[in-house]
Amino acid sequence: MAGLQKILVVLCLVTQAISQDMPYEDLLAQLQACPKECNCPQNFPRAVYCDNKGLKSIPTIPPYTWYLYLQNNLIETMPLDALQNATQLRWINLNRNKITSDKVGEGVLGGMKHLAHLYMDDNLLSTVPSPLPVSLEHLRLSRNRISKIPAGVFVGLDKLHLLDLQGNKLMDDAVTEVSLKGLTSLVQINLAKNQLSSMPLGLPPTTIQLFLDGNNIEKIPADYFKSLPKITFLRLNHNKLGSAGVPKDIFNISSMLDLQLSHNQLTEVPVIPSGLEHLYLDHNKIASVNGSSVCPVSVDSLDDSTNDSVPRLRYLRLDGNEISPPIPRDVVMCFRLLRSIVI
Ligand SMILES: *[C@@H]1O[C@H](CO)[C@@H](O)[C@H](O)[C@H]1NC(C)=O
Ligand SMILES: *[C@@H]1O[C@H](CO)[C@@H](O)[C@H](O)[C@H]1NC(C)=O
Ligand SMILES: *[C@@H]1O[C@H](CO)[C@@H](O)[C@H](O)[C@H]1NC(C)=O
Ligand SMILES: *[C@@H]1O[C@H](CO)[C@@H](O)[C@H](O)[C@H]1NC(C)=O
Repeated sequence: MAGLQKILVVLCLVTQAISQDMPYEDLLAQLQACPKECNCPQNFPRAVYCDNKGLKSIPTIPPYTWYLYLQNNLIETMPLDALQNATQLRWINLNRNKITSDKVGEGVLGGMKHLAHLYMDDNLLSTVPSPLPVSLEHLRLSRNRISKIPAGVFVGLDKLHLLDLQGNKLMDDAVTEVSLKGLTSLVQINLAKNQLSSMPLGLPPTTIQLFLDGNNIEKIPADYFKSLPKITFLRLNHNKLGSAGVPKDIFNISSMLDLQLSHNQLTEVPVIPSGLEHLYLDHNKIASVNGSSVCPVSVDSLDDSTNDSVPRLRYLRLDGNEISPPIPRDVVMCFRLLRSIVI
């Protein structure tokens, strides 16, 4: 009972807060402009819900909309007129529609001066839409047919920190210093399931999370991570990396916490940093693990007390290799914080 009262109080507060930031006339105009195909909740007038309606086109969107939900429809075009008065949009979800690049109206996105989140996963885009609003923070374009990133499309987008391009048709020549120029705040980039055969160029030094699973990458240049000093989560599962293409100490980067190299052709365990917590090396061609060479610190120098010098590895996968159990004793001696090892 007390819980329910609490919820009601919270709801009332939310309603008040939302109505307060919108003058009464605007609220009326907003609700009156609600397209008949959509649902515009009175207590949350900044949101317009038009998802799952079988829509073939975008209805005229009311002027004070911040959050627009259009996912799961059959929308093919993004014309200027339907969206031209919705200049306050913060968030658009257009996932799972049928929008092609040639049907994205000239300037339709660039004019949304406040747009922070644009989601267009599972459409039929062949290129990253351009121009994009400089206010953008998250851009999701996974599972389209994107093979091109127009040069300079990200210039000025200094708030963009998440870029999801997985499941597209990007090749090496599409992901370059020229195409990625301007991403000065990028933190997460997902380029998994594309057609890359080498490591992407032009990633900014702010990058923390880089996902490249399911490409055809065979090698990593020796100085590749010199320009990525903050890299923390690196996924290269399902590529074609062999130990000859992976310089021995390439992953010995102190910021790295999570390193995933499953389903490659590695024959040796790479050098890892002492702070690494998760290491995935399953389904490679590793025949043996030498504890004293794998240990990031000297095994002899580890005394019985657990202290800062103890390697941080907690999770290790080595299954699907050519290693036979038992786990070498010096591996266990080295990685004392291991909670789980799969061999
Ligand atoms: C946009 O707003 C203007 C001015 O209020 C109005 O005349 C016009 O009809 C609106 N356009 C659309 C597509 O609703
Ligand atoms: C790994 O990096 C650490 C710290 O940067 C360094 O002390 C260590 O010698 C390196 N290990 C190898 C095998 O290169
Ligand atoms: C393991 O590596 C260490 C240091 O690199 C080396 O001295 C030793 O001979 C290796 N042991 C085996 C069994 O290969
Ligand atoms: C931590 O362990 C290392 C290696 O055993 C040792 O040299 C060092 O003195 C220890 N530090 C502390 C603070 O206990």
